[in-house]
Amino acid sequence: MSRARFIVLEGVEGAGKTTQIRLLSAWLAGAGVEHVTAREPGGTEVGEAIRGVLLAHREGDVPPETELLLMLGARAAFVRQVVRPALAAGKVVLADRFDFSTFAYQGYGRGLDLDAVRRLNAFATDGLVPDLVVVLDLPVGEGAERQAREGSERDRIEVEGAAFLERVREGYRALVAQEGHARMVDARGDAEAVHRRLRTLLGDTFPETFPGRAGS
Ligand SMILES: Nc1ncnc2c1ncn2[C@@H]1O[C@H](COP(=O)(O)OP(=O)(O)OP(=O)(O)O)[C@@H](O)[C@H]1O
Ligand SMILES: [Mg+2]
Repeated sequence: MSRARFIVLEGVEGAGKTTQIRLLSAWLAGAGVEHVTAREPGGTEVGEAIRGVLLAHREGDVPPETELLLMLGARAAFVRQVVRPALAAGKVVLADRFDFSTFAYQGYGRGLDLDAVRRLNAFATDGLVPDLVVVLDLPVGEGAERQAREGSERDRIEVEGAAFLERVREGYRALVAQEGHARMVDARGDAEAVHRRLRTLLGDTFPETFPGRAGS
């Protein structure tokens, strides 16, 4: 039986997605679990070109519908050229954001019609649904503090306003409540503590793929 699983980490800026993917990757490497880590546009040529278009235009210059469709354009390539081939090769895919980001930011955050967003997303992903979406839940202010400590220039709270990110966080909470394949993990505390929570969740959810519980 294939141990391929498609695992996605989600959450607001500074929640620790990238940090936790790095820790999970090291854990899986140590346990000999074949995996790839990925984030959209994930190294597809067309996705990188789309990313360049989005970055070249300041927030506000691009209608939210355009932003949505460009992101979904990149996602269509990401699914077909990165995620599906890795899963077909029996690998675990650890993705830094996927469709929950679109629902939370473009839907709940920007107010685009969520049903339309979902339909368009399903077309872009060819119906591929992650095996597990983990939302790293952190108060918006704490994520901003972490990024400020890091010296990150793009403080989204300054760019978008705290109210926007609060809508995004609430959107994530609503999605987890609605979707059977999603779980919330408390992202407070140090990175090692959060990592242990994730190991426990993955080991308990997919024992045939992931090594035993935290500490083992
Ligand atoms: N548990 C933690 N406690 C304190 N600081 C953390 C923790 N996890 C990550 N950090 C630090 O907070 C900053 C943001 O973390 P990270 O880049 O992993 O978040 P992210 O969710 O990937 O953010 P973004 O959405 O902006 O990519 C980094 O400087 C990271 O080192
Ligand atoms: Mg990140």
